[in-house]
Amino acid sequence: MGKTALITGITGQDGSYLAELLLGMGYRVVGMTRRTSTDVHERIRHIVEDVEFVSGDLLDQTSMTKIVADTKPDEVYNLAAQSFVPASWMQPVLTGEFTALGVTRVLEAVRAVDPKIRFYQASSSEMFGKVAEVPQREETPFYPRSPYGVAKVYGHWITVNYRESYDMFAVSGILFNHESPRRGKEFVTRKISDGVARIKLGLARELRLGNLDAQRDWGFAGDYVRAMWLMLQQERPEDYVIATGRTHSVREFCRIAFETAGLGSYEEYVKVDPRFIRPAEVDLLIGDPGKAKRVLNWAPEVSFEQLVQMMVEADIDRIRATLPTGS
Ligand code: NAP
Ligand code: GDD
Repeated sequence: MGKTALITGITGQDGSYLAELLLGMGYRVVGMTRRTSTDVHERIRHIVEDVEFVSGDLLDQTSMTKIVADTKPDEVYNLAAQSFVPASWMQPVLTGEFTALGVTRVLEAVRAVDPKIRFYQASSSEMFGKVAEVPQREETPFYPRSPYGVAKVYGHWITVNYRESYDMFAVSGILFNHESPRRGKEFVTRKISDGVARIKLGLARELRLGNLDAQRDWGFAGDYVRAMWLMLQQERPEDYVIATGRTHSVREFCRIAFETAGLGSYEEYVKVDPRFIRPAEVDLLIGDPGKAKRVLNWAPEVSFEQLVQMMVEADIDRIRATLPTGS
């Protein structure tokens, strides 16, 4: 018998890559989705027949506990969250309910049904915020700079607390930014690749962004979901930083993206718009993936340059396919 995995947030970027990975390894994959009036399966359309769907919500303890009891998973991956940082200033209470207390609800469901179920929490480099040291490691103190970051710190510590209080196999993956052609279009990398594609195909003339000097440690989402799985296969439950160990500015992302499309210098097209500047910024993130390399034998396979090219080319192909033939 193969293992069963329950994934919350299966319709998101990471959920889609993780589901693919686990199905490929023979898992029975159960995906939790919340009820919506429209179809949210865009990212998992190609595997929708292979996944079992259950309806639930991080806000609702009853549904969470019933789902865990009914599906009897060996592993639970808690990827669901309000994950867009600017939205967390607009909806700070809701972000806390989803992204912080939601973690406790899933942990409570696991504890009540079977504390032996292995649990993965999607923690974030946003917890490091105004960074206390460079690069950031598992022991680096947290200093979050957004309601989202604060909520993730809660989610991280409640995971550690359930591990220590109830001897549960509960781990927190502190993942640095990871991107892909399936990234939501509000995040800066996809906003750039989509914007570059529109300019290339004559559908737009400029791209409006915020802080071009922010630096992130960007990797490929497909590489990062492998690390999630590896964390749950270890003998002991521990937390890991997952990162590339390299950092780049938004400006550098723009430069490579415009060059990939053959558009020349990004400076001709990119305009700084104060609407996209944040009330408090995380200026620099760079992770130390040393422990993940040593213990999990994990390393990223896709480079920054390959990632930018992959995203720009995918958006050009996607948009071109929607245009009348010959455009
Ligand atoms: P994403 O694309 O925004 O996906 C978020 C998922 O959460 C979606 O499936 C969404 O469902 C679901 N969701 C939101 N609120 C929910 C609720 N109340 N009940 C049930 N489901 C809910 O995020 P992602 O990039 O895949 O990231 C996955 C996780 O990793 C998130 O927790 C994120 O905070 C964390 N993380 C991401 C990164 C990164 O760089 N991508 C880095 C560190 C940590 P709908 O489709 O219905 O909206
Ligand atoms: N979204 C966005 N839009 N960001 C911009 C823009 C813009 O127009 N212009 C500049 N930026 C800068 C932001 O100010 C930020 O410093 C950086 O680009 C990255 O922003 P996002 O792509 O929105 O990601 P994030 O780093 O805030 O958050 C993502 O990564 C976290 C891990 O560190 C999300 O995926 C979080 O859920 C995740 O936890």
